[in-house]
Amino acid sequence: MKPVLVINGPNLNMLGLREPDVYGHETLAGLEERCQRKAKTLGLDISCRQSNHEGEIVSWIQEARSAASGIILNAGAYTHTSVAIHDALRIAQLPLIEVHLSNIYKREPFRHHSYVSPIADGVLCGFGGHGYELALDAIHKILTVKKG
Ligand code: DQA
Repeated sequence: MKPVLVINGPNLNMLGLREPDVYGHETLAGLEERCQRKAKTLGLDISCRQSNHEGEIVSWIQEARSAASGIILNAGAYTHTSVAIHDALRIAQLPLIEVHLSNIYKREPFRHHSYVSPIADGVLCGFGGHGYELALDAIHKILTVKKG
């Protein structure tokens, strides 16, 4: 099976340093290792990426259309602003789980709208790094059912 892309957007490279009261103490490297460990238990191949650049994320999503079996996406602040990422996700037509470390609905009103959610199969927010493990479980389930 093609790999599942795990994409983290802007400022998520600063995890560990960035507002630990909101995002916890785990670094991006730690989070990606955690994802790799979980994926292994599920027999899933994953590719973890992070970018601060909207266009780069759009290009990865476009490539995923033929190169990946699904996408787990924390688009960071682009969640709330990016029509370009929304459009790319529509084009990709892949199983998609949206993840946020924090519960965006408990935070400022500008974080309550997501351009990703209308396309996502499911949304996980507020579970910190564990949300990524839950997302891997969810996408594994979707891909298993799809395979028949
Ligand atoms: C975030 C929530 C977004 O509102 C914020 O801009 C982020 C991180 C989260 O994981 O909780 O960068 O996506």
